Parts: sequence; C-alpha cells; structure tokens
Amino acid sequence: MLKRLTVVLLAALALSGCDRVDPNSPLGKRKVIFKDMLKTSEDLGGMLRGRLPFDGVKFADGALKLDNLSHQPWQHFPQVRDGGDSAARAEVWERQARFHDLARQLEGVTGELVGVTRSPTLDAAQLKAPMDKVEAACKACHTEFRNH
Ligand code: HEC
Repeated sequence: MLKRLTVVLLAALALSGCDRVDPNSPLGKRKVIFKDMLKTSEDLGGMLRGRLPFDGVKFADGALKLDNLSHQPWQHFPQVRDGGDSAARAEVWERQARFHDLARQLEGVTGELVGVTRSPTLDAAQLKAPMDKVEAACKACHTEFRNH
C-alpha cells in the first residue's frame, strides 16, 4: 500500500516537474510576470474580439496593469545567462541592445494604449489598432528571442 502511494507521489512530482522553478529565482520572477502579462493582454484582446463583453472601465484598468507589467520582466534577466527551464535564447545576452530595444517598444505601445483609454468616449473600435500594436510587440520579441 505504502509502496503504491510512493509510486503515485513520484509520478505526480515528475509530471509537475516543469513547473518546479524556484519562485525566488530571476527565472521564477520573470515567468510570473510574463504569465500575468499574457492573462491581462488576453482579457483585453478578448474584449475587443467579442470573447468577453466590452467594458470600458475594465479595459482601462487592464491597460494600466499591462503597462505596469510591461516594465517589469527585464530586471529579472540577469547579466549572465541563467540556466534552468528558460525559454530565452542565448541571443538575449548576445544582442542585449536589440533585446532592450524591443522591451522599450513594448513599453511604448502599452503606454499609447493607456493614452487611448483616457478618451472620454471610449469604444472598442478605437482600441483595436493600439491593441494590435501591443500584440505585435510581444510577438516580435518572441520570434527573435524566445525558443518557441
Ligand atoms: C523584449 C522581449 C519580449 C517582449 C516584448 C515580450 N516577451 Fe514574453 N518572453 C520573452 C522571453 C525572452 C521569454 C522567455 C523567458 C524565459 O523563459 O527565460 C518570454 C516568455 C513569455 C511567456 C512564457 C512564460 C512562462 O511561463 O515560461 C509568456 C506567457 C510571455 N512571454 C508573454 C508575453 C506577452 C503577453 C507579451 C506582450 C504583452 C510579451 N511576452 C512580450 C521576451 C519578451
């Protein structure tokens, strides 16, 4: 009985293996921020594409949150490449100037998105182009600097 339990426990541990990143490590910290960025931008995109009901106040709050988050991952990329379960390509450290350029671009377009949400007559149609730019900025960097 005990033996079987051990086998089950070990199997469960092995399955959760990929998620066992030390939450206090730089990798753990940036992953949490990136995940939050994804969730936040998916909710914003969802409101514009009709997956979620459009709510101007919620959208503006989400845009502000995304803009805040977009400044945060970069400090958790250490000077020297860290190992572990990272999907970052070696290029992040080999071409740091370009990596930082793309990070600044994201910060710029999330800032623009926040700017648009300050319009007193906010509607979904106005937000589509600036939101597309945000999504393109995520994608551009992933294409160059992420493994998948
Ligand atoms: C300047 C480059 C850059 C930009 C811009 C960028 N990312 Fe990333 N992102 C990365 C890199 C590099 C990784 C891999 C991090 C690692 O595993 O070490 C990553 C990882 C991720 C992950 C995976 C996290 C995990 O659980 O492993 C998600 C989700 C993600 N990014 C979402 C986004 C979203 C959403 C945006 C735009 C709002 C965005 N990223 C913008 C470079 C970027």
